[in-house]
Amino acid sequence: MGEMTASIAHEINQPLTAISMYAQSSIKLIERGNADPDKLRAALEKLNTQSLRAGAIIERIQRFARPQQGQQEMTRLSVLLTDLLKLAESDARLHEVELKFELDQDLPAVLCDPIQIQQVALNLIRNAIDAMSEIHRAFGRTIVIQTRAVSPQMVEVAVVDQGPGVAEDVEDLLFTPFHTTKKDGMGMGLSICRTIIAQHGGVLSFRNNENCGASFYFTLPVEVIPDEQPDE
Ligand SMILES: Nc1ncnc2c1ncn2[C@@H]1O[C@H](COP(=O)(O)OP(=O)(O)OP(=O)(O)O)[C@@H](O)[C@H]1O
Ligand SMILES: [Mg+2]
Repeated sequence: MGEMTASIAHEINQPLTAISMYAQSSIKLIERGNADPDKLRAALEKLNTQSLRAGAIIERIQRFARPQQGQQEMTRLSVLLTDLLKLAESDARLHEVELKFELDQDLPAVLCDPIQIQQVALNLIRNAIDAMSEIHRAFGRTIVIQTRAVSPQMVEVAVVDQGPGVAEDVEDLLFTPFHTTKKDGMGMGLSICRTIIAQHGGVLSFRNNENCGASFYFTLPVEVIPDEQPDE
């Protein structure tokens, strides 16, 4: 939590510094008298842009990180993921990547917030697309989205890519807020996804594939109906 707060503070400090700078220069313009309205307007517009940027950072964090109560439903993962395809496919096509589903249709339903779980899966797919684009799809063009039961109590969703894979020793870094290797990345995806999955009683992690690429996966508990307690 402390680490997360420090990173957020750092990120928000940039627009705030800019806001203060533009405010100070606007004051100076006015104090000098006969302020050029065009210059003043330009400074105030920049100030406005920066305050919107700070707001957008906060909103994004709130939207993902705040657990939404009362949104849990019994959900079939195959339905949830098929719905997601519409969102992910155009992005995949744009990057010349193919999405392939290997869904176990017999999986039991899970109790979850479907929107949050879709966001997690979407972030993993986007990361996979980015990873494969980074090496110009040298190892292949296919991302496989798999579901399976890992035990009678747990199901797993895995996004298997053909990207460069991940060095085991950077695992902790990957899940750290604001760690990114991308020019326009925010580095929030995996840390937020891990929090969402933990709130659902599951685990989000990754393993490297045998041939190439990585598999990012998460587990979700199956709703187990508790045995009736025998009377004493
Ligand atoms: N499938 C993958 N293969 C290789 N590296 C990956 C993969 N997924 C994530 N990474 C690495 O982990 C980093 C963190 O990912 P994360 O989703 O947290 O942030 P991001 O994608 O950089 O930005 P955003 O906040 O927009 O999601 C990435 O920048 C990338 O270096
Ligand atoms: Mg990401």
